[in-house]
Amino acid sequence: MRLIVGLSGASGIIYGIRMLEVLRDQKIESDLVMTDMAGKMVGLETPFSEDEVIGLATRYHDCFDFTSPLASGGYRNLGMVVLPCSMKTLAGIACGFADNLLLRAADCTLKERRPLVLVPRETPLNAIQIRNMLTLTGAGATILPAAPGFYHRPKDIGELIDHIVGKTLDVFHIEHHLYSRWKDEPLS
Ligand SMILES: Cc1cc2nc3c(=O)[nH]c(=O)nc-3n(C[C@H](O)[C@H](O)[C@H](O)COP(=O)(O)O)c2cc1C
Repeated sequence: MRLIVGLSGASGIIYGIRMLEVLRDQKIESDLVMTDMAGKMVGLETPFSEDEVIGLATRYHDCFDFTSPLASGGYRNLGMVVLPCSMKTLAGIACGFADNLLLRAADCTLKERRPLVLVPRETPLNAIQIRNMLTLTGAGATILPAAPGFYHRPKDIGELIDHIVGKTLDVFHIEHHLYSRWKDEPLS
C-alpha cells in the first residue's frame, strides 16, 4: 500500500506533516513531493526542518524531477493527497498545467481514475478558486477543505489537525482512530 503525498505552499503545512507521521505509524508507504514554497512553510509554521519532514516519508521525490516514477500513470498506488493545497497548485491541477512533479502526479492520478484529495486552507474564496474546485470535483477529485469539526469536542490543536487527516484517510478507506465518529458503532 502506498500513497502519494503532495505538500504545497499554503498555510497549514502541519496537516501534511501529520499525514506523513500517521502513514509511517500505520506502515503505509508514502511518496512525498513538496513544492519550494511548501519547504519554506515548514520553516515558517513549524519547529520541523525540511530534512525531518523528508525523513518521515518512505520515498522523497524532487519537485522538478520528471524522471521520477510519480510522473507516470503506470506507477501503482492508492491515490494522492495534496495537503495543504495552495490556490496556485489547485489552479495548476484544474487546468492540467503540469510544470512541476506534484502537478504531474496529480494529473496522472486523475487520468488513471485514482482518488485525488485536495485539502485547501484558503478563506475566503474568490469566484476563480470556486470554479477551479468545481472543475476538479467534476474531474473526479475530492475537495476536502481544512475545516475541522467540533462535535468531537477537540481538546487541543492536535485533535483539530487529526480530524482533517482522519477525514482525508476516510476517502481511501484506511482504518484509523484519529477522531471519534458521530454516533458510529465500532466495526466488528
Ligand atoms: C505565510 C504564507 C501563507 C500562505 N498561505 C497560503 C494559503 O493558505 N493558501 C494559498 O493558496 N496560498 C498561500 N500562500 C501563497 C503561496 O505560498 C503562493 O501562492 C505560492 O506560489 C504557492 O506555490 P505552490 O503551490 O507551488 O506551493 C501563503 C504564502 C505565505 C508566505
